[in-house]
Amino acid sequence: MSIKPSVDAHIKKELFTKETHLEYVDFIKNIWDYKKNTKLSPLKLDKFLGKTYTNIIDPYLPNKFLDPVTEYAKSINPKAEFVFLSVVRYSKDYGTPQLPPHFDAPSNLCFIIDYQIESNLTWPICIDGEIFPLEDNSCLVFDSIRTIHWRVPQTFNDGEYVYMAFYHYAEESISLPAPEAQAHKLEKYFKVYLDQLGKENFSDSHKLLIQQFNNKEMLEFLDLNRDNMVQ
Ligand SMILES: [Fe+2]
Repeated sequence: MSIKPSVDAHIKKELFTKETHLEYVDFIKNIWDYKKNTKLSPLKLDKFLGKTYTNIIDPYLPNKFLDPVTEYAKSINPKAEFVFLSVVRYSKDYGTPQLPPHFDAPSNLCFIIDYQIESNLTWPICIDGEIFPLEDNSCLVFDSIRTIHWRVPQTFNDGEYVYMAFYHYAEESISLPAPEAQAHKLEKYFKVYLDQLGKENFSDSHKLLIQQFNNKEMLEFLDLNRDNMVQ
């Protein structure tokens, strides 16, 4: 059984003008400076993925940071409607930056636009096994519900960071993916991820994820006992 993505994954360079991009960098850094100093709207922390993140909603999202993205989204699919924007900062200050293979939770999202605001390292994204390196002010458009995606494992050094913005677009009548097809792809691409990561870099959290697959090859690779499996 296959899962047909609603869009072919692709990179678009220079999503914003140079001037707007510089304004975006200021905007995002101000959010991090502001939110880390207030108890009202704290940044959320995800230690396992090594990131802090938050959502930006109207009226705090200036049109200049939304309209060009929605215009591009509509050129791909006229029925696409903007739903929400989340922004994230990855750094080893927050844990271990990583993103193992996964599908986003089923919903009527038709695609996501992953925009790299600013980074001082290259950290490629894999979509169905294809590697996409991103640059500042470029974005990756892909169907995060119907394609498996992850970040190529990479160790962050002190001071290295990535600021991203995730624009979510939905289509009202779009169908949900088949769970069996997702399970097949998760098994297939977790093996690729294991190879990319290297066994020596596996954390206990990774092992728990792998155990959930109950896949003989992967469990043997990690010397995990199937009898001690976590369900
Ligand atoms: Fe995702």
